[in-house]
Amino acid sequence: MLVLVTGGMGYIGSHTCIQMIEAGMTPIIFDNLYNSKSSVLDRIEEVSGQRPIFVEGDVRNKADLDKVFSQYDIESVIHFAGLKAVGESVAMPLEYYDTNVNGSYVLTAAMRDAGVKSLVFSSSATVYGDPASVPILESFPTSATNPYGRSKLIIEECLTDFQKVNPDWSITLLRYFNPVGSHPSGRLGEDPQGIPNNLMPFVSQVAVGRREFLSVFGSDYPTVDGTGVRDYIHVMDLSDGHLAALNHVGKKAGLHIYNLGTGNGNSVLEMVAAFEKASGKPVPYKLVERRPGDIAECWADPAKAKADLKWQATRTLDDMTQDTWRWQSNNPNGYPEV
Ligand code: NAD
Ligand code: UFG
Repeated sequence: MLVLVTGGMGYIGSHTCIQMIEAGMTPIIFDNLYNSKSSVLDRIEEVSGQRPIFVEGDVRNKADLDKVFSQYDIESVIHFAGLKAVGESVAMPLEYYDTNVNGSYVLTAAMRDAGVKSLVFSSSATVYGDPASVPILESFPTSATNPYGRSKLIIEECLTDFQKVNPDWSITLLRYFNPVGSHPSGRLGEDPQGIPNNLMPFVSQVAVGRREFLSVFGSDYPTVDGTGVRDYIHVMDLSDGHLAALNHVGKKAGLHIYNLGTGNGNSVLEMVAAFEKASGKPVPYKLVERRPGDIAECWADPAKAKADLKWQATRTLDDMTQDTWRWQSNNPNGYPEV
């Protein structure tokens, strides 16, 4: 089974490619290396025993995509490629709409022209905005509070409209909660450029000595200890969720929407304590103001994915923190430049 994986050199895509290879699928990575390094390919090969086909290209460039679709007999597409930093999206909205929305439009048009009718799209729990209650069901209302979230929502709506008039297509929207962790080998992981926006990469850079302390954004939320609560999901579980989607609904015509989360929430301070335990290193922190746009708590009801995709997260918080630490301590500066 040949699957085009846009953004397959990135954090979630690279882990998913490993799981695909291990399941006997053949990923073809399509990525412009905007936020990833080509040495990721060496690591995928080292861990999985197979070097994936890699095509350097931009999802906004239809000619690049047409070429791949004419060259390979592609059955399905997993679309990870995109920009993902909330703060950056506020400063550079056009770039976000161009890469995320326009990139998804061009990709879908190239699929249509090539007769490929199975798409799995990386969406986000951010489309739920500030949910009225938790756990969050797929049927909850959607909204956006920043250009990144709006780009995901627009793509979801475009794909929904498109599927309505193309009822033989299978389109799956996977709404990820908070992906963390690394491949258990310690050879692949999250390698953010510059100052990390997300909690776990920041915490691990403090533990490894690259940063002095963590700023904990807000300590007066109505949560267990006043800090924000999220549904952290191991990237290997998230990757498995994509295989489950391909296997169970990838050939089934329709619009399919699933939460990929664990169903449990943990606070920032609980994550810090778990990371200190896994690493044996102190993680100094300071309680500071809330980060604008943050919500108090967010976790998934993952029952629909369990019922339809026969998938559920199995890795524990200890797995998430131990695997993150193995990657961070073995690769303190991320992937090598080549
Ligand atoms: P990432 O930045 O590590 O990976 C994205 C990949 O896409 C990178 O390799 C980048 O080079 C590539 N890319 C960017 N623009 C491109 C373009 N125009 N053409 C081709 N390739 C391009 O991000 P990730 O964490 O692996 O996220 C993957 C997807 O999941 C994204 O769509 C993101 O919005 C979504 N998502 C991520 C999170 C998260 O917290 N990591 C949460 C929810 C949803
Ligand atoms: N946090 C800190 N200090 C930091 C970074 C984060 O205290 O330096 C806190 C945040 O306030 C929040 C929690 O840690 O309470 C998690 O923050 P992240 O930035 O790691 O994650 P978010 O929940 O804000 O957002 C993430 C992705 C989005 C995605 C969203 C929902 O970054 O792309 O999950 O899936 F949309």
